Amino acid sequence: MCAMQMYELIGKKRDKKRLSKEEIEYFVSGYTKGIVPDYQASALLMAIFLNGMDTEEIFNLTSSMMRSGEVLDLSSIPGVKVDKHSTGGVGDKVSLILAPLVAACGLTVPMISGRGLGHTGGTLDKLESIPGFETNLSLESFVKNLSDVGLCMIGQTKEIAPADRKLYALRDVTGTVNSIPLISASILSKKLAEGTDALVFDVKLGNGAFMQKRKEAILLAKSLIQIAGRFKKKAVALITDMNEPLGEAVGNSIEVIEAVQALKGKWPEDLRDVTLALGAHMLVLGRKAKSLKQAEKKLEERLESGEALDKFRQMVKRQGGNPKVVDDYRLLPWAKHKMTVESEQTGYVKSIDTLKIGLSAVKLGAGRERLDSKIDYGVGFLIKKKVGDRVKKGESLAIVFCNDLKKGRWAKREIEQAYQIGKKKTNRLKKILFLVDEKGARKLAGSSWP
Ligand code: URA
Repeated sequence: MCAMQMYELIGKKRDKKRLSKEEIEYFVSGYTKGIVPDYQASALLMAIFLNGMDTEEIFNLTSSMMRSGEVLDLSSIPGVKVDKHSTGGVGDKVSLILAPLVAACGLTVPMISGRGLGHTGGTLDKLESIPGFETNLSLESFVKNLSDVGLCMIGQTKEIAPADRKLYALRDVTGTVNSIPLISASILSKKLAEGTDALVFDVKLGNGAFMQKRKEAILLAKSLIQIAGRFKKKAVALITDMNEPLGEAVGNSIEVIEAVQALKGKWPEDLRDVTLALGAHMLVLGRKAKSLKQAEKKLEERLESGEALDKFRQMVKRQGGNPKVVDDYRLLPWAKHKMTVESEQTGYVKSIDTLKIGLSAVKLGAGRERLDSKIDYGVGFLIKKKVGDRVKKGESLAIVFCNDLKKGRWAKREIEQAYQIGKKKTNRLKKILFLVDEKGARKLAGSSWP
């Protein structure tokens, strides 16, 4: 190893200087191999968090993280491979619906997902609430499932983007999550390593997202598109609202149930809007539809015919899970206790502090507070009232599902405080706000953001 020293790299970033390609490679490969300790990696992450990185540095960070493991070549599987990735939200179970739905339309969806991060839920944790479901497959099985079923959902392995696996977990517990360079490199390193041809990003914006300001969300979307472009991948991003949880369910098994219900055609409007909009872009990028309108029609047909639900069943079975969960939700983990959060006044829901809801779910056991925390898969919330809904005093705002009564009572109070009820009628939140592609950012019709 050359005479580079981690403390010099940390000092450079602390002093707002650029890191070279070699320095970034030294950090990423050293940390992945366990040569660079957690305390030095944490210090560098915090310096990046505070002082940022330019496009060249983000590109080099992504490239080093992607090459920390294998980069899959899926050219043996015919057709276009398309994936989507969300920057993280509360109640965001879109991947569980979207991957089988898009696969049912004839595209291959190689999906490498993440675990819960900060206050946001993770697709892998949700999937693992299905008894027996395995997200840690060998690359051979991943490719075989893709070629046989058309989709496979796994996590970063020791082989695929191992640097992201370690850095993601470290960021989660060191206050270094919401940084544009770190999020861009984290998402893209695993997505590029999985061998996809095109990508659709769901960049969340609002009080439950890592990006709370419109400018930041657009910058993140542009960074993702720009870096994906440098790797010659077609990509678009939708910026979607996260000023309230998406759909009703927040947790793990409870979100799997909502996703399965959606695949059966029973879903809340906001979840439907976001899923179909992202799916339509995937079909257009994957050349399965000429226009977004045609793509939406195709998605709806595959839902109605039951083909999307069938793909979900096949995926669960292939990945070791019990496919009967689709027909019998009692086979999933359930919490022992249920408590209702009642409204203390009559009026309209003015706002919901979504970060508070996400953090309460984590503390209730649906996420991790420490690297080694165990997830309680059955706990979570059902959000019964959303922004713009009329509510009467004593009516239920949300339901808390818990295994520990003390924690449940605490979460109930947190949810009560997360709701702001006003006398004035408020509008429902539009979900699809901006489209970002290589031409720039455009506000979409009906977007409620200024
Ligand atoms: N999703 C990821 O994969 N990484 C991040 O850093 C944030 C969201």
